[in-house]
Amino acid sequence: MKRSPVSKLLLFGATGDLAQRMLLPSLYGLHADGLLPADLAIFGSARADHDDAHFRTFVGKALDEFLAADRKDKAQIASFLERLYFQPADLSDPASFKPLADKVGDISGGLAIYLSTAPSLFESAVEGLRSVELTGETVRIALEKPLGYDLASSREINDTVARAFPEERTFRIDHYLGKETVQNILALRFGNSFFEPVWNAQGIDNIQITVAETVGLEDRAGYYDGAGALRDMVANHILQLVALIAMEPPARYDMTDVRDEKAKVFRSLRLIAPECATRDTVIGQYNGGAVKGEIVKGYDEELGRDSNTETFVAVKAHVDNWRWQGVPFYLRTGKRMAVRRSEIAIQFKPVPHSMFSGRGGILQPNTLVIRLQPEEYIQMLVMAKEPGLDREGVRLREVPLNLSMDAEFAGTRRRIAYERLLLDLIEGDQTLFVRRDEVEAQWTWIDAIRAGWAANDMKPKHYASGTWGPAASIALTERDGVTWQDD
Ligand code: BG6
Repeated sequence: MKRSPVSKLLLFGATGDLAQRMLLPSLYGLHADGLLPADLAIFGSARADHDDAHFRTFVGKALDEFLAADRKDKAQIASFLERLYFQPADLSDPASFKPLADKVGDISGGLAIYLSTAPSLFESAVEGLRSVELTGETVRIALEKPLGYDLASSREINDTVARAFPEERTFRIDHYLGKETVQNILALRFGNSFFEPVWNAQGIDNIQITVAETVGLEDRAGYYDGAGALRDMVANHILQLVALIAMEPPARYDMTDVRDEKAKVFRSLRLIAPECATRDTVIGQYNGGAVKGEIVKGYDEELGRDSNTETFVAVKAHVDNWRWQGVPFYLRTGKRMAVRRSEIAIQFKPVPHSMFSGRGGILQPNTLVIRLQPEEYIQMLVMAKEPGLDREGVRLREVPLNLSMDAEFAGTRRRIAYERLLLDLIEGDQTLFVRRDEVEAQWTWIDAIRAGWAANDMKPKHYASGTWGPAASIALTERDGVTWQDD
């Protein structure tokens, strides 16, 4: 598809939480930096009975609440609000679409549609858009997660969307791909020569990926209780991280080559057989406890009823290909954990022989830590000799070689992940969006895990809020002689 910026953006779900917290502040951020096409008009739509003026006031308030103080510029906010229009629509009502199309008007300059709504509305939305010809050549569509809850439902969604939008005009969002540090994995791996020769089963012992959150349900009971941690975080964000770590070097940094390589990784994930589910996966649910010094309720209490939904999951995964044979990928994510932290820890193999052992020196294998958030840094843990005369043996200590992205790029503003994705959508670059075959391979792997849980009638083990999850998750790695990189 020819890449060209669109002149109109239509945002469904424009009064929702994601729009207020992320999408509108991101669009404002791009506007304030002069990155949006000068003529870009933004149409909000939702069931709310706003008109343009109401919507502008509503967005003004959202920006006031969610923009960082140093980003608030009265004149810029005023000129941003002038780009905004609103048309109420009930996506389940076919009669909503004609007024919508009238409001949007001429789309020959290109239209990007962003569906930030429940997937149950995708079908009627796509049908409605088609009925009023808002699906033609000049129109591209972005889809927010969840894109289904298993392979079958995700295929249904994809089929529905594909009836009106070919793959090259469909932009599936995984906001982790918009994060600067996530993209930096590619720079680290493929912009430097010294990692790649050891980036394989010969050089690496194991890989750990942790996405720990301190938040709980956050008013999302309706969605979250039907999803759980595996579908909410592993099926998309964590698997994307696995792909970026495990993929072969793409020939070009473009939407075909990068996504081809990621898709190969997803297809190489070893399906976890039902008889391995209790050994290779752990599920948990938080009880009450204290997070960052604050007393918090347990999941069931927050929800108001008993539930078997997992708020924590740990999985021992394998990528069955030549490069990664025998290297476990330990993945875990949870809500109400001890700290908020997303991190990838790559543990290299120990040296083949230690010349220090006769002199009392103890070596640790090297670890590369990629901290994605809240801080952004890359740290290589290397062995060094402690200063001294070594009369009582050689003392060796693990010390960090630090690259702080925060400090190194201190003058550069860290953008919201959605700024990048919205700009790419507006300009038509799909590299950081998820292709259909990726999504379907991800679900194939996830469905096998869930089938294993069902076959074994696995229920989440409880863990206290403010901890690192159920004790069984420690056993998952310790059994292999590996310890989670917790601090
Ligand atoms: C979303 C999940 O996709 O990602 C949420 O639905 C989760 O449950 C969020 O809290 C985490 O995103 P981030 O950017 O805060 O790590």
